[in-house]
Amino acid sequence: MTQDFDAFHAALAAHDDVAINPSGNRSLDRMVDAGRRNVLKGGLAMAALGFFGGGISACRAVADDGLLGFKGVPQQFDAKFDKVIVADGYSATPFFSWGDAVLADAPAFKGDASETWEDQLKQAGDNHDGMHFFPFPDAPNDHGLLVINHEYINPTLHSAGIVFVEGKRKAEDVKKEQAAHGVSVIEVKKDGDGHWQRVAGSRYNRRISTLTPMQLTGPLAGHAAMKTASDPSGLEVIGTLNNCSMGVTPWGTYLACEENWHNYFINRDPADYAQRVSHKRYGIAKEGVSKNYGWETADARFDATPYRDQPHDGHVQEPNRFGWVVEIDPFDPTSKPKKRTAVGRFCRECSTLSLGKDGRMAYYYGDDTKGEYIYKFVPSGRFDAANPKAARDLLDEGTLYVARFDDDGKGQWLALVHGQNGLTAENGFASQAEVLLNARAAGDILGATPMDRPEWVAAHPETREVYVTLTNNDDRGSKKPVNAANPRPHNLHGQILRWNEAGGDPTATTFQWEIFLLAGEPQGAKDDKGQAVPANLIGTINGDAFSSPDGLAFDPAGRLWIETDFDDIEPAMARIGCNQLLCADPKTREVRRFLVGPRGCELTGITFTPDGRSMWVNIQHPGISYPASDGKSRPRSTTVLITKNDGGVIGS
Ligand code: FEO
Ligand code: CA
Ligand code: CA
Ligand code: CA
Repeated sequence: MTQDFDAFHAALAAHDDVAINPSGNRSLDRMVDAGRRNVLKGGLAMAALGFFGGGISACRAVADDGLLGFKGVPQQFDAKFDKVIVADGYSATPFFSWGDAVLADAPAFKGDASETWEDQLKQAGDNHDGMHFFPFPDAPNDHGLLVINHEYINPTLHSAGIVFVEGKRKAEDVKKEQAAHGVSVIEVKKDGDGHWQRVAGSRYNRRISTLTPMQLTGPLAGHAAMKTASDPSGLEVIGTLNNCSMGVTPWGTYLACEENWHNYFINRDPADYAQRVSHKRYGIAKEGVSKNYGWETADARFDATPYRDQPHDGHVQEPNRFGWVVEIDPFDPTSKPKKRTAVGRFCRECSTLSLGKDGRMAYYYGDDTKGEYIYKFVPSGRFDAANPKAARDLLDEGTLYVARFDDDGKGQWLALVHGQNGLTAENGFASQAEVLLNARAAGDILGATPMDRPEWVAAHPETREVYVTLTNNDDRGSKKPVNAANPRPHNLHGQILRWNEAGGDPTATTFQWEIFLLAGEPQGAKDDKGQAVPANLIGTINGDAFSSPDGLAFDPAGRLWIETDFDDIEPAMARIGCNQLLCADPKTREVRRFLVGPRGCELTGITFTPDGRSMWVNIQHPGISYPASDGKSRPRSTTVLITKNDGGVIGS
């Protein structure tokens, strides 16, 4: 066994020798990429780029070598690839893995998944996703709090995997899964040698999970639609679910977003289901068991079937209490998280801030489901940097908008306001609370544009130009045909869109948009039989090929970082390789591959110190062993620290 393992690693090491020297051993695809890059430097570039979108900035194709200073890394095609390869001159160090101690009295990670649910509640959760570094003001580049989402769990959480006995889960197993969801807050600090360390037992270290009480705030707080048998007040929810990406506020709080919460519920009453928009329009299960992970068989709160003999019909309204934004103050470890409801309910990927000069702001949200919408929330109030405490509840009042992308490159933000645009009682919206609760159905009435699975949004730190990843869409459905913003019928590779709000104002109600790039294979790509790859799979990337953009963020210097999430076992993806982190120059549109992750993983979560010299990214659900923070090799979701060996700015 050990011998096989060593041989396996020796083989991979040999593969590494090839991989880290791209100039000497480039794959065919990479050479095609390089050829394409050269072509794009010529006149063809203008013609090619003029073809897409509204053409706001086709002139940006003019070469500008400023932003991307590193040498790209090649794709990795090995079926057993289990490394992280980062650009030459950089280091990638496992930093914080599932099971690592968070609280002072946490047991060390045991390695055989024999931890109890109480142990798990003190350790890092599973499936690291969105993440943010909050600096301490006195040493912002050396000391801070790292806040990390734990989106869902893998079967490796238990020694025996996910087990049903006579159709039921064990209560202890379900509790352990709930404890492994949520958020970790950890203090991190550079030691005397300048190496980042996790501060063991810090008073800031905290776990928030599906077992943590949170306060409901905003228009739905205490509303009839939020009352359940276990919370007749409708004011307190236990826990958060499926925290995918995130956001931050200018007043220094973290926004954990609730994405695929519908997978945790079931409503077995067909008549009730058929008329309950807040279940039906979000795809809650109606038979069998809930997708994640049959919790209702051990925890009645997740059985959303109406039980008329119970107060508030049991837990039929429990799903209404998920799909929101959870605001967490990482600097106050005793604070109760607040679940904000003014922001609307859907399968929210992210909550990305764009702050205007006058303190007014927008938060952008993707609803990551096939054919769903992009939203923004504009708080009524302004942020006043001189009085950050006054901003504490700014997310409780404002206007929610949904986006319409017109084929001519213009766009409209449509206000989801009760009484306007058909959002009336006759159409099923008795109040603003119900508009927010059923935001998708409200967006349907307003004619919002169905998108190809909107994931992360990023706003340029200076220009406020906004970018969104539309990860892919292999089933558009008959009611959701192609449109200019979502132009490919069977869209396996996805695209990145960008727009400028009118006047550069985050609160504007009109915008100009264009396609930044279509992901996919390079022009002229051939399959393994030498046949031309179908046009639908060919991208317009100026640089390195990738599929399914998901994570997206600007660094402090305005480089656009792109993280991918596709099924790298899928035959259609064989020519794309493993999932990866790339960097784009928003002006030239050049894209260069910075890092490749182990087979089976998704790259997600990305954050920087203010000086741009330290970066953390997450390796989520690596399929094969990837060394975790304790140096031992096993598949564990892991936060990885990236630094430049000469101490320079990442990407420069
Ligand atoms: Fe959790 Fe849409 O990614
Ligand atoms: Ca995602
Ligand atoms: Ca994804
Ligand atoms: Ca994922």
